[in-house]
Amino acid sequence: MQPYASSLMLAFLLTLILLSLGVEVHGADYYTINDFPADFIFGAGSTAYQVEGAANEDGRTPSIWDTFAHAGLAGGATGDVACDEYHKYKADVQLMVETGLEAYRFSISWSRLIPNGRGPLNLKGLQYYNNLIDELLSNGIQPHVTLHNFDLPQALEDEYGGWVSRDIIEDFRDYADACFREFGDRVKYWNTVNEPNVFAIGGYDQGAVPPQRCSPPFGVKNCTKGNSTTEPYLVVHHILLAHSSAVRLYRRKYRSKQQGFVGISVYTFGFLPQTNTEEDVLAVKRARDFLVGWVLEPLMNGDYPASMKTRAGARIPAFTDRESKQVKGSSDFIGLIYYTISNISDNQDSLKQKSRDFGRDMAANILETSRLFTAEEFLIAPWGLQQVLETFKVLYGNPPIFIYENGQRTARNISLEDVSRVKYLQAHIGGVLDALRNGSNTKGYFAWSFLDLLELLDGYKSAFGLYYVDLDDPHLTRYPKLSAKWYSQFLKGRKTSSIVTPIQFPSSS
Ligand SMILES: *[C@@H]1O[C@H](CO)[C@@H](O)[C@H](O)[C@H]1NC(C)=O
Ligand SMILES: *[C@@H]1O[C@H](CO)[C@@H](O)[C@H](O)[C@H]1NC(C)=O
Ligand SMILES: *[C@@H]1O[C@H](CO)[C@@H](O)[C@H](O)[C@H]1NC(C)=O
Ligand SMILES: *[C@@H]1O[C@H](CO)[C@@H](O)[C@H](O)[C@H]1NC(C)=O
Ligand SMILES: *[C@@H]1O[C@H](CO)[C@@H](O)[C@H](O)[C@H]1NC(C)=O
Repeated sequence: MQPYASSLMLAFLLTLILLSLGVEVHGADYYTINDFPADFIFGAGSTAYQVEGAANEDGRTPSIWDTFAHAGLAGGATGDVACDEYHKYKADVQLMVETGLEAYRFSISWSRLIPNGRGPLNLKGLQYYNNLIDELLSNGIQPHVTLHNFDLPQALEDEYGGWVSRDIIEDFRDYADACFREFGDRVKYWNTVNEPNVFAIGGYDQGAVPPQRCSPPFGVKNCTKGNSTTEPYLVVHHILLAHSSAVRLYRRKYRSKQQGFVGISVYTFGFLPQTNTEEDVLAVKRARDFLVGWVLEPLMNGDYPASMKTRAGARIPAFTDRESKQVKGSSDFIGLIYYTISNISDNQDSLKQKSRDFGRDMAANILETSRLFTAEEFLIAPWGLQQVLETFKVLYGNPPIFIYENGQRTARNISLEDVSRVKYLQAHIGGVLDALRNGSNTKGYFAWSFLDLLELLDGYKSAFGLYYVDLDDPHLTRYPKLSAKWYSQFLKGRKTSSIVTPIQFPSSS
C-alpha cells in the first residue's frame, strides 16, 4: 500500500481514466449528475459493526456478529475497533462533505441502543446516534438508517433463539418504536432489516454468517445448532412479520407527524442462464422466485411465490389472513443490494435427495456463490443491474427503489489507484441512468462502501471503500482512492440546488 501517492498523480490519472472510460463502458456512455432527476440522491454506505468500533464501550453489549467474529469466523478479524467511527464520526462527516455525498446510509447497533435487546435505552448509545444524525444534517447530508444488519443483540439470541422464535416480532417492533420516537423527527428513510434473504440463507442454511446455524449435510461451517431444512424459511417469515409490524406502528403512530418512509432491502444477482436450454431458463425463473420473490411477493401480494410453496411444502410457514393483510403493501420502498451477475443452471437431482434445504428446494445452482469468499473483482457488467431494475419494474410492481449497496471488490491493500472501482461505478451508475430512462422507479444510489471496513465474510482482506483506512496507523488515517475523487467530481457537477429535498412517494396504505 502506498498511501502517499501524490494528489497530483491522482488528478492526472483521474483525467486519463475519465477520458478513456467513455468508450469502454456500457450503459449511458457520457453522462453527468445533471442527467439524473433533480431529486435523485447519491450517497455511500456503511453499517454499525463494520465501522463503529468501540464495541465494548459506553454500555454496548455483544451482538451475534461480535460472537461470530470472535469465534474467528470472519477471517480472524473483529469489529472491536473497525474504523473507530464511533469516535471519529465528526471527521468522517467532514470527509463526506469533501466528497460531496448527499446522503449517508448507516445502521444503528441495536445492542448499543438497547443493551439487553429490550428494556431501557442506553443513554450513551442514544447520544451517539443523535450526534451522528445532527452532524450529518447540519452538513446537508440526508441520513438513511438501517435497524438490523446481521447484528441481533446476543442477549436475545441466547434467550429465545433470536429470529427463529416468534418472540422476536414484538422485541423488534419495540426497538423500531424507540428509533422512530427518538430519531424520526430527523430521519425520514428507514430500512428495517437489511437483506433478509442473505441473512436467512447464510445464517441458517449454510451457517456461513451470524448466527451460524445449520445442520448436516448443509453447513459450510461446523454449526452447533440449527436446522437448515426449516429455519431459513422460518427466519424470513419472522422478519416479514417483524418488518410489517414495525411499519404498521410507524403508520399509526408517527407517519402523519414525521412524514417518513419505511422499507426493507433485498439482495439480488443479475441472473444469467448457464446455457440457453429451457431447463436453465426455467431455473433462472425459480432462482429469482426463491431469492427475490421470497421477500417481494409477500410485500406485493401477501403470499410467497407458488414455486416456493410447491417445493418447500409445509416447511415454508403460511401467513394467516390477518398477517397476509399486514405484510401486503408494508414497504414504502425497496432497498436493493446488487453487486454482480450469476450463472444459473438447472439441478433437478437436488429434489430427489432425501434431506432438503433452501438450495435443494430451489433445484438450481447459483454459480457465483462459490466465489463470495474471495477477494476477486467483479465483472463490470452493468446490464446485470439494468436487468434487475427491469424485472423490479415488470414483475414486482415498479416500487420506489434505493440502490443501497453497489460497488467493486478488490483486495484491501492493492493501491489507492483503484481503477477497476472507478470503471465499475461509472458503468453501473450509467446503467442506472439507462434504467431510469426506461421507466425504472429508482430514487437514489449509494456506493458501497464509504470506507474500507470490516467485511462480513473475510474481515479486512477484501475492500469496497472509496477511502482506504490504514489499519497499521494508530490514528486509522483515511486516504482517498481514485474512486473517491472520481465520485466526488461526479457529485460536485450538480448544477441545481445542493440542498437535497426529501423525496416524496405516493403513500401505501
Ligand atoms: C497485501 O496483503 C497480503 C495478505 O495480507 C500480502 O500478502 C501482500 O503482500 C500485501 N500487499 C501489499 C502491497 O502490501
Ligand atoms: C468441522 O469439524 C471437523 C472436526 O473438528 C473438522 O475436521 C472439519 O474440518 C470442520 N469443518 C469445517 C468446514 O470447518
Ligand atoms: C428439522 O426440522 C424438521 C421439522 O421439524 C425435522 O423433521 C428434522 O428432523 C429437523 N432436522 C434436524 C437436523 O434437526
Ligand atoms: C457464465 O456463463 C457465461 C456464458 O453464458 C460464461 O462466459 C461464463 O464463463 C460463465 N461463468 C461461470 C462462473 O461459469
Ligand atoms: C425497456 O422497457 C421495455 C418495457 O418494459 C422492455 O421491453 C425493454 O426490454 C426494456 N429495455 C431494457 C434495456 O431493459
